Amino acid sequence: MQENDSQENESRERESQQNDKPEIDKPPIIRVRDLYVGFGPKMVLEGLDLDVKAGEVMGFVGGSGQGKSVLTRTILGLLPKTSGEIEVFGEDIDKLSPEEHRALERRWGVLFQSGALFSALTVKQNIQAPMREYLSLSQETMDELAMLKIKLVGLAPDAADKFPSELSGGMIKRAALARALSLDPELLFLDEPTSGLDPIGAAEFDELISTLQKTLGLTVFMVTHDLDSLYSICDTIAALADGKVIASGPLSTMLASDHPWLRSYFHGKRARTIVPQGAAPKIPDVPASDAGLLTAAPAGSRHGARA
Ligand SMILES: Nc1ncnc2c1ncn2[C@@H]1O[C@H](COP(=O)(O)OP(=O)(O)OP(=O)(O)O)[C@@H](O)[C@H]1O
Ligand SMILES: [Mg+2]
Repeated sequence: MQENDSQENESRERESQQNDKPEIDKPPIIRVRDLYVGFGPKMVLEGLDLDVKAGEVMGFVGGSGQGKSVLTRTILGLLPKTSGEIEVFGEDIDKLSPEEHRALERRWGVLFQSGALFSALTVKQNIQAPMREYLSLSQETMDELAMLKIKLVGLAPDAADKFPSELSGGMIKRAALARALSLDPELLFLDEPTSGLDPIGAAEFDELISTLQKTLGLTVFMVTHDLDSLYSICDTIAALADGKVIASGPLSTMLASDHPWLRSYFHGKRARTIVPQGAAPKIPDVPASDAGLLTAAPAGSRHGARA
Protein backbone atom coordinates (compact mmCIF):
# COMPACT_ATOMS: atom_id res chain seq x y z
CA MET A 1 0.00 0.00 0.00
CA GLN A 2 2.84 2.32 1.01
CA GLU A 3 4.69 1.33 -2.15
CA ASN A 4 1.58 2.19 -4.16
CA ASP A 5 1.31 5.59 -2.43
CA SER A 6 4.88 6.52 -3.14
CA GLN A 7 4.53 5.29 -6.73
CA GLU A 8 1.41 7.42 -7.02
CA ASN A 9 3.25 10.49 -5.75
CA GLU A 10 6.14 9.88 -8.12
CA SER A 11 3.75 9.48 -11.01
CA ARG A 12 1.87 12.68 -10.11
CA GLU A 13 5.15 14.53 -9.75
CA ARG A 14 6.25 13.29 -13.16
CA GLU A 15 2.93 14.30 -14.68
CA SER A 16 3.02 17.75 -13.17
CA GLN A 17 6.65 18.25 -14.28
CA GLN A 18 5.53 17.15 -17.70
CA ASN A 19 2.64 19.61 -17.68
CA ASP A 20 4.77 22.47 -16.33
CA LYS A 21 7.13 22.35 -19.29
CA PRO A 22 5.93 24.60 -22.09
CA GLU A 23 5.15 22.72 -25.29
CA ILE A 24 7.37 25.07 -27.25
CA ASP A 25 10.43 23.61 -25.48
CA LYS A 26 9.57 20.17 -26.72
CA PRO A 27 9.41 19.82 -30.48
CA PRO A 28 8.54 16.24 -31.40
CA ILE A 29 11.52 13.98 -31.98
CA ILE A 30 9.21 11.55 -33.78
CA ARG A 31 6.21 12.89 -35.70
CA VAL A 32 3.95 10.51 -37.61
CA ARG A 33 0.90 11.63 -39.58
CA ASP A 34 -1.81 9.60 -41.30
CA LEU A 35 0.42 6.55 -41.63
CA TYR A 36 -0.77 3.53 -43.59
CA VAL A 37 1.29 0.32 -43.62
CA GLY A 38 0.12 -3.03 -44.94
CA PHE A 39 1.21 -6.37 -46.29
CA GLY A 40 -0.55 -7.13 -49.56
CA PRO A 41 -4.22 -6.34 -49.17
CA LYS A 42 -4.01 -6.49 -45.36
CA MET A 43 -3.55 -3.09 -43.74
CA VAL A 44 -1.95 -3.07 -40.29
CA LEU A 45 -1.69 0.67 -39.66
CA GLU A 46 -4.51 2.82 -41.00
CA GLY A 47 -4.22 6.55 -40.46
CA LEU A 48 -1.90 6.51 -37.46
CA ASP A 49 -0.75 9.79 -35.85
CA LEU A 50 1.95 9.94 -33.18
CA ASP A 51 4.17 12.55 -31.51
CA VAL A 52 7.09 11.62 -29.28
CA LYS A 53 8.57 14.67 -27.59
CA ALA A 54 12.19 15.34 -26.74
CA GLY A 55 13.34 13.86 -23.46
CA GLU A 56 10.24 11.81 -22.74
CA VAL A 57 9.83 8.11 -22.17
CA MET A 58 6.82 7.07 -24.21
CA GLY A 59 5.23 3.71 -23.52
CA PHE A 60 3.49 2.30 -26.60
CA VAL A 61 0.80 -0.27 -25.84
CA GLY A 62 -1.68 -2.33 -27.79
CA GLY A 63 -2.89 -5.90 -28.18
CA SER A 64 -0.66 -8.53 -29.69
CA GLY A 65 -0.55 -8.32 -33.48
CA GLN A 66 -1.93 -4.77 -33.59
CA GLY A 67 1.20 -3.42 -35.26
CA LYS A 68 3.50 -2.03 -32.56
CA SER A 69 6.60 -3.66 -34.00
CA VAL A 70 5.47 -2.83 -37.54
CA LEU A 71 5.23 0.84 -36.56
CA THR A 72 8.67 0.73 -34.94
CA ARG A 73 10.22 -0.90 -37.99
CA THR A 74 8.50 1.55 -40.32
CA ILE A 75 9.81 4.56 -38.39
CA LEU A 76 13.27 2.99 -38.56
CA GLY A 77 12.93 2.67 -42.34
CA LEU A 78 13.05 -1.13 -42.25
CA LEU A 79 9.52 -1.54 -43.61
CA PRO A 80 7.97 0.46 -46.45
CA LYS A 81 4.88 2.53 -45.77
CA THR A 82 1.91 2.72 -48.09
CA SER A 83 1.33 6.41 -47.37
CA GLY A 84 1.66 9.05 -44.69
CA GLU A 85 4.44 11.18 -43.21
CA ILE A 86 7.21 10.25 -40.81
CA GLU A 87 9.62 12.80 -39.39
CA VAL A 88 12.45 11.93 -37.04
CA PHE A 89 14.54 14.74 -35.55
CA GLY A 90 12.54 17.06 -37.79
CA GLU A 91 13.64 15.24 -40.96
CA ASP A 92 11.03 13.87 -43.34
CA ILE A 93 12.38 10.37 -43.98
CA ASP A 94 10.98 10.39 -47.54
CA LYS A 95 13.16 13.34 -48.46
CA LEU A 96 16.46 11.92 -47.27
CA SER A 97 19.20 10.57 -49.49
CA PRO A 98 20.64 7.18 -48.42
CA GLU A 99 23.62 9.04 -46.90
CA GLU A 100 21.34 11.38 -44.97
CA HIS A 101 19.31 8.41 -43.73
CA ARG A 102 22.51 6.75 -42.55
CA ALA A 103 23.39 9.91 -40.66
CA LEU A 104 19.96 9.76 -39.01
CA GLU A 105 20.46 6.10 -38.08
CA ARG A 106 23.58 7.05 -36.15
CA ARG A 107 21.43 9.18 -33.86
CA TRP A 108 19.20 6.33 -32.65
CA GLY A 109 19.68 2.97 -30.98
CA VAL A 110 17.35 0.00 -31.19
CA LEU A 111 16.60 -2.97 -28.97
CA PHE A 112 14.55 -5.29 -31.18
CA GLN A 113 11.81 -7.55 -29.84
CA SER A 114 13.46 -10.67 -31.19
CA GLY A 115 16.95 -11.44 -32.37
CA ALA A 116 18.35 -9.03 -29.84
CA LEU A 117 21.97 -10.15 -30.40
CA PHE A 118 24.00 -11.86 -33.13
CA SER A 119 24.49 -15.38 -31.77
CA ALA A 120 27.84 -15.94 -33.50
CA LEU A 121 29.40 -12.83 -31.96
CA THR A 122 30.56 -12.22 -28.38
CA VAL A 123 28.93 -9.46 -26.34
CA LYS A 124 31.85 -7.15 -27.10
CA GLN A 125 31.65 -7.89 -30.82
CA ASN A 126 27.89 -7.34 -30.75
CA ILE A 127 28.34 -3.92 -29.16
CA GLN A 128 31.02 -3.09 -31.71
CA ALA A 129 28.89 -4.12 -34.70
CA PRO A 130 27.22 -0.68 -35.10
CA MET A 131 30.61 1.02 -34.57
CA ARG A 132 32.06 -1.04 -37.41
CA GLU A 133 29.10 -0.21 -39.62
CA TYR A 134 28.95 3.52 -38.99
CA LEU A 135 32.33 4.70 -37.68
CA SER A 136 35.98 4.11 -38.46
CA LEU A 137 37.64 3.56 -35.12
CA SER A 138 40.71 1.59 -34.15
CA GLN A 139 40.15 -1.80 -32.54
CA GLU A 140 41.67 -0.45 -29.33
CA THR A 141 39.18 2.44 -29.17
CA MET A 142 36.28 0.13 -29.96
CA ASP A 143 37.42 -2.23 -27.18
CA GLU A 144 37.55 0.64 -24.70
CA LEU A 145 34.13 1.91 -25.77
CA ALA A 146 32.58 -1.57 -25.60
CA MET A 147 33.87 -2.03 -22.05
CA LEU A 148 32.38 1.34 -21.11
CA LYS A 149 28.97 0.34 -22.48
CA ILE A 150 29.19 -3.00 -20.68
CA LYS A 151 29.77 -1.14 -17.43
CA LEU A 152 27.03 1.36 -18.20
CA VAL A 153 24.38 -1.36 -18.41
CA GLY A 154 25.57 -3.09 -15.26
CA LEU A 155 27.19 -6.17 -16.77
CA ALA A 156 30.37 -7.63 -15.28
CA PRO A 157 33.50 -7.09 -17.41
CA ASP A 158 33.84 -10.83 -18.01
CA ALA A 159 30.56 -10.78 -19.97
CA ALA A 160 32.48 -9.08 -22.79
CA ASP A 161 33.90 -12.28 -24.24
CA LYS A 162 30.83 -14.45 -23.71
CA PHE A 163 28.51 -15.54 -26.49
CA PRO A 164 24.74 -14.91 -26.18
CA SER A 165 24.16 -18.64 -25.54
CA GLU A 166 26.27 -18.33 -22.39
CA LEU A 167 24.14 -15.50 -20.95
CA SER A 168 20.94 -15.42 -18.92
CA GLY A 169 17.86 -13.71 -20.38
CA GLY A 170 18.47 -10.64 -18.21
CA MET A 171 22.11 -10.45 -19.29
CA ILE A 172 21.06 -10.71 -22.95
CA LYS A 173 18.69 -7.76 -22.50
CA ARG A 174 21.48 -5.71 -20.89
CA ALA A 175 23.94 -6.66 -23.64
CA ALA A 176 21.34 -5.73 -26.27
CA LEU A 177 20.84 -2.41 -24.50
CA ALA A 178 24.61 -1.87 -24.52
CA ARG A 179 24.56 -2.49 -28.27
CA ALA A 180 21.66 -0.05 -28.70
CA LEU A 181 23.78 2.53 -26.86
CA SER A 182 26.83 1.75 -28.98
CA LEU A 183 26.75 4.99 -31.00
CA ASP A 184 25.73 7.26 -28.09
CA PRO A 185 22.21 7.75 -29.48
CA GLU A 186 19.82 10.56 -28.63
CA LEU A 187 16.79 8.38 -29.25
CA LEU A 188 16.23 4.82 -28.08
CA PHE A 189 13.67 2.38 -29.52
CA LEU A 190 12.91 -0.49 -27.17
CA ASP A 191 10.54 -3.23 -28.31
CA GLU A 192 9.29 -5.10 -25.24
CA PRO A 193 12.55 -4.75 -23.32
CA THR A 194 11.35 -6.47 -20.14
CA SER A 195 9.43 -9.37 -21.65
CA GLY A 196 10.70 -12.70 -20.40
CA LEU A 197 12.43 -11.23 -17.35
CA ASP A 198 11.50 -12.21 -13.81
CA PRO A 199 9.76 -9.47 -11.75
CA ILE A 200 12.92 -8.33 -9.99
CA GLY A 201 14.99 -8.43 -13.17
CA ALA A 202 12.32 -6.44 -14.99
CA ALA A 203 12.15 -3.84 -12.21
CA GLU A 204 15.95 -3.51 -12.29
CA PHE A 205 15.87 -3.14 -16.06
CA ASP A 206 13.23 -0.40 -15.78
CA GLU A 207 15.42 1.36 -13.26
CA LEU A 208 18.39 1.08 -15.62
CA ILE A 209 16.42 2.54 -18.54
CA SER A 210 15.17 5.36 -16.35
CA THR A 211 18.67 6.17 -15.05
CA LEU A 212 20.18 6.09 -18.53
CA GLN A 213 17.37 8.22 -19.91
CA LYS A 214 17.99 10.87 -17.26
CA THR A 215 21.78 10.82 -17.27
CA LEU A 216 22.17 10.63 -21.05
CA GLY A 217 19.17 12.88 -21.79
CA LEU A 218 17.62 10.27 -24.06
CA THR A 219 14.20 10.21 -25.69
CA VAL A 220 12.77 6.71 -25.36
CA PHE A 221 10.06 5.04 -27.45
CA MET A 222 9.23 1.83 -25.64
CA VAL A 223 6.80 -0.80 -26.86
CA THR A 224 5.63 -2.74 -23.85
CA HIS A 225 2.93 -4.97 -22.40
CA ASP A 226 4.36 -4.38 -18.97
CA LEU A 227 2.06 -2.36 -16.73
CA ASP A 228 4.80 -1.87 -14.16
CA SER A 229 7.08 -0.28 -16.76
CA LEU A 230 4.25 1.95 -17.96
CA TYR A 231 3.52 3.03 -14.46
CA SER A 232 7.03 3.41 -13.14
CA ILE A 233 9.09 4.91 -15.97
CA CYS A 234 6.84 6.26 -18.75
CA ASP A 235 6.03 9.97 -18.97
CA THR A 236 3.38 9.44 -21.61
CA ILE A 237 1.55 6.47 -23.04
CA ALA A 238 0.11 5.96 -26.51
CA ALA A 239 -2.30 3.12 -27.22
CA LEU A 240 -2.72 1.37 -30.56
CA ALA A 241 -5.94 -0.28 -31.72
CA ASP A 242 -7.56 -0.68 -35.13
CA GLY A 243 -4.44 0.62 -36.84
CA LYS A 244 -4.56 3.98 -35.05
CA VAL A 245 -3.37 5.64 -31.87
CA ILE A 246 -6.64 5.72 -29.95
CA ALA A 247 -5.33 7.66 -26.96
CA SER A 248 -2.14 9.42 -26.02
CA GLY A 249 -1.11 11.23 -22.86
CA PRO A 250 -0.20 10.64 -19.25
CA LEU A 251 -1.47 7.64 -17.32
CA SER A 252 -4.48 9.66 -16.14
CA THR A 253 -5.62 10.01 -19.77
CA MET A 254 -5.49 6.24 -20.16
CA LEU A 255 -7.36 5.70 -16.91
CA ALA A 256 -10.08 8.16 -17.89
CA SER A 257 -10.61 6.70 -21.37
CA ASP A 258 -13.79 4.75 -21.99
CA HIS A 259 -12.35 2.86 -24.95
CA PRO A 260 -13.08 -0.85 -24.33
CA TRP A 261 -9.50 -2.01 -24.83
CA LEU A 262 -8.09 0.67 -22.54
CA ARG A 263 -10.75 0.00 -19.93
CA SER A 264 -9.94 -3.64 -19.96
CA TYR A 265 -6.18 -3.04 -19.94
CA PHE A 266 -5.97 -0.34 -17.30
CA HIS A 267 -8.88 -1.36 -15.09
CA GLY A 268 -8.59 -5.14 -15.36
CA LYS A 269 -7.72 -7.45 -12.50
CA ARG A 270 -3.98 -7.28 -13.09
CA ALA A 271 -3.93 -3.52 -13.49
CA ARG A 272 -5.65 -3.05 -10.15
CA THR A 273 -2.61 -4.37 -8.27
CA ILE A 274 -0.35 -1.82 -9.93
CA VAL A 275 -2.23 1.23 -11.09
CA PRO A 276 -3.95 3.35 -8.42
CA GLN A 277 -7.55 3.19 -9.58
CA GLY A 278 -8.48 6.20 -7.44
CA ALA A 279 -6.58 8.36 -9.92
CA ALA A 280 -9.46 8.18 -12.39
CA PRO A 281 -13.23 8.01 -12.43
CA LYS A 282 -14.40 4.56 -11.48
CA ILE A 283 -15.34 2.64 -14.57
CA PRO A 284 -16.96 -0.78 -14.34
CA ASP A 285 -14.84 -3.73 -15.43
CA VAL A 286 -15.20 -4.92 -18.97
CA PRO A 287 -15.22 -8.67 -19.51
CA ALA A 288 -12.54 -9.55 -22.08
CA SER A 289 -15.21 -11.05 -24.31
CA ASP A 290 -16.98 -7.70 -24.51
CA ALA A 291 -13.88 -5.70 -25.23
CA GLY A 292 -13.86 -6.71 -28.87
CA LEU A 293 -10.40 -5.39 -29.51
CA LEU A 294 -8.80 -7.48 -26.83
CA THR A 295 -6.42 -9.67 -28.76
CA ALA A 296 -4.12 -10.00 -25.78
CA ALA A 297 -4.77 -9.58 -22.11
CA PRO A 298 -2.24 -7.31 -20.47
CA ALA A 299 0.67 -9.56 -19.76
CA GLY A 300 1.87 -6.92 -17.40
CA SER A 301 1.69 -7.62 -13.73
CA ARG A 302 4.89 -8.45 -11.97
CA HIS A 303 2.94 -8.28 -8.73
CA GLY A 304 1.07 -11.47 -9.53
CA ALA A 305 4.36 -13.27 -9.71
CA ARG A 306 5.45 -11.80 -6.39
CA ALA A 307 2.28 -12.76 -4.56
N1 LIG B 1 7.05 -8.85 -42.59
C1 LIG B 1 5.74 -9.09 -42.45
N2 LIG B 1 5.03 -9.65 -43.48
C2 LIG B 1 3.70 -9.87 -43.36
N3 LIG B 1 2.98 -9.59 -42.25
C3 LIG B 1 3.63 -9.05 -41.21
C4 LIG B 1 5.03 -8.77 -41.26
N4 LIG B 1 5.40 -8.21 -40.08
C5 LIG B 1 4.28 -8.15 -39.34
N5 LIG B 1 3.23 -8.65 -40.00
C6 LIG B 1 1.83 -8.71 -39.53
O1 LIG B 1 1.48 -7.42 -39.05
C7 LIG B 1 0.65 -7.53 -37.89
C8 LIG B 1 1.25 -6.70 -36.78
O2 LIG B 1 2.45 -7.33 -36.33
P1 LIG B 1 3.37 -6.73 -35.21
O3 LIG B 1 4.56 -7.64 -35.11
O4 LIG B 1 3.64 -5.31 -35.47
O5 LIG B 1 2.45 -6.88 -33.92
P2 LIG B 1 2.75 -6.37 -32.44
O6 LIG B 1 1.72 -5.36 -32.10
O7 LIG B 1 4.16 -5.96 -32.34
O8 LIG B 1 2.46 -7.69 -31.61
P3 LIG B 1 3.24 -8.31 -30.32
O9 LIG B 1 2.72 -7.55 -29.13
O10 LIG B 1 2.79 -9.72 -30.30
O11 LIG B 1 4.70 -8.16 -30.53
C9 LIG B 1 0.53 -9.01 -37.58
O12 LIG B 1 -0.68 -9.46 -38.11
C10 LIG B 1 1.70 -9.62 -38.31
O13 LIG B 1 1.41 -10.94 -38.70
MG1 LIG C 1 5.84 -6.75 -31.43
